[in-house]
Amino acid sequence: MKSPALTTASGIPVADNQNSLTAGPRGPLLLQDFHLIEKLQHFNRERIPERVVHAKGSGAYGTFTVTNDITGFTKAKLFSEIGKQTETFVRFSTVGGERGSADTERDPRGFAVRFYTEEGNWDLAGNNTPMFFIKDPIKFPDFVHTQKRCPQTNLKSATMMWDFWSKAPESLHQVTMLFSDRGTPDGYRHMDGFGSHTFSLINAGGERVWVKWHFKTQQGIKNLSAADAVRLAGEDPDYAQRDLLDAIARGDFPRWNVMIQVMREGERRVWEMRTGWNAFDLTKVWPHADFPRIPVGVLELHRNPANYHAEVEQAAFSPANVVPGLGYSPDKMLQGRLFAYHDAQLYRVGTNHQHLPVNRPRCPFHNQQRDGAMALENGGAAQNYETVEANGSAAEGMGHGEPGWELHGKAGRYDERGTEDDYTQAGNLFRLMSEAEQDRLTTNIANAMRNVSSQIQELQLAHFHRADPAYARAVQQKLKN
Ligand code: HEM
Repeated sequence: MKSPALTTASGIPVADNQNSLTAGPRGPLLLQDFHLIEKLQHFNRERIPERVVHAKGSGAYGTFTVTNDITGFTKAKLFSEIGKQTETFVRFSTVGGERGSADTERDPRGFAVRFYTEEGNWDLAGNNTPMFFIKDPIKFPDFVHTQKRCPQTNLKSATMMWDFWSKAPESLHQVTMLFSDRGTPDGYRHMDGFGSHTFSLINAGGERVWVKWHFKTQQGIKNLSAADAVRLAGEDPDYAQRDLLDAIARGDFPRWNVMIQVMREGERRVWEMRTGWNAFDLTKVWPHADFPRIPVGVLELHRNPANYHAEVEQAAFSPANVVPGLGYSPDKMLQGRLFAYHDAQLYRVGTNHQHLPVNRPRCPFHNQQRDGAMALENGGAAQNYETVEANGSAAEGMGHGEPGWELHGKAGRYDERGTEDDYTQAGNLFRLMSEAEQDRLTTNIANAMRNVSSQIQELQLAHFHRADPAYARAVQQKLKN
């Protein structure tokens, strides 16, 4: 097919896109060659800032289909009947690397799912791990700095990473996952996803239960060996992107079973008393034996984006986006994230980033936000202020129709290190692994810690020891070799 005639961005036909307008064949150039000027100017502005974390990623569209009835837990309309389908957009990512970094690096993977529901966008921006490194958002910028480059050398620094982890024992659970086989998944299709935080579900009777979201891969878990991950980083740094794109293009659509764990408020109190764990602590999981997973539906990805920058790079997920029937929890980390994402996107994409096709809800939206750069949807002739009314205009959503939370405690800054159990679950994860898996885990850790000072090594070894003496022994032995 013949491509359409070239035009300027204003639609004016371009006569010649090969030869600049010059005074005589040798030049100089004439300033009135507006096409040349516009072409160079736009090129200079092609990049937007990369995401401050999760910069390298891949996205695809799909559908979520309800397979099981959870209307007893939530009134969210997307779950209202079995068979109901909701359009979705998913972005997978690595976390610490830059936009051009290798897909196979040892790192958690982002697993961000957007549901374009009839009541607005619900974004579940989770990871491929059910837990996280820290439990207080005030530590997030420091933690991320240790995963990025050293300010002086511009090199990644094992010392920075282990210095942080060794002084933050709450990270041990996630560190154990990171250095296990799951730290190098074989592309994005063969890994599970987790909402990770504790969220709420609210039913039509106004009852709240606590919930954790799970996405179980139907492709089966597949990980890369540490050696293959390193080899692929050189041979095919875009390995995961290529794998996802090709699978969808050939009709081999990846699917995940969507499941929930549910904890009632009464159960929470009993469970917390029994285990000593906090149900809102992101460094912990809820054991499946205590809270079995309940099937909800299936997520399938079946359409590649038509344009990477427009749809994947400009995609803006926010944990704050929940629809009526879904809600937050008191998890401090989640609370921090409710602020962080929209703020990052105001800077990274722009004031009106929600107007872009990948971000705009599929249902109508009305508010009094107006103007700003790139206002694609500006409310037309609609009133740009709200008159004072006794009640809001919607019965539910964003604080309306939700049962209240009981909050108590003195305002203060609480250092829970040393008072909370950061070791049992990390030890349980270690003990769950086969001998061969434990061997690979401790080899990966020893290799990563080898050039770190003995002081940091000793601190970290003490944490491994408290999780399981065999864990510490194996790492210590390998550090000596
Ligand atoms: C307080 C802790 C955290 C803060 C302050 C934080 C902040 C951020 C920021 C600013 C971005 C970039 C957003 C953008 O520019 O679009 C981001 C991306 C992301 N974060 Fe977090 N984050 C935190 C914890 C977490 C946790 C615990 C998870 C997973 C459970 C997570 C998953 C993600 C994902 C998947 C993305 C990429 C979303 C996409 O694909 O566009 N983050 N985070």
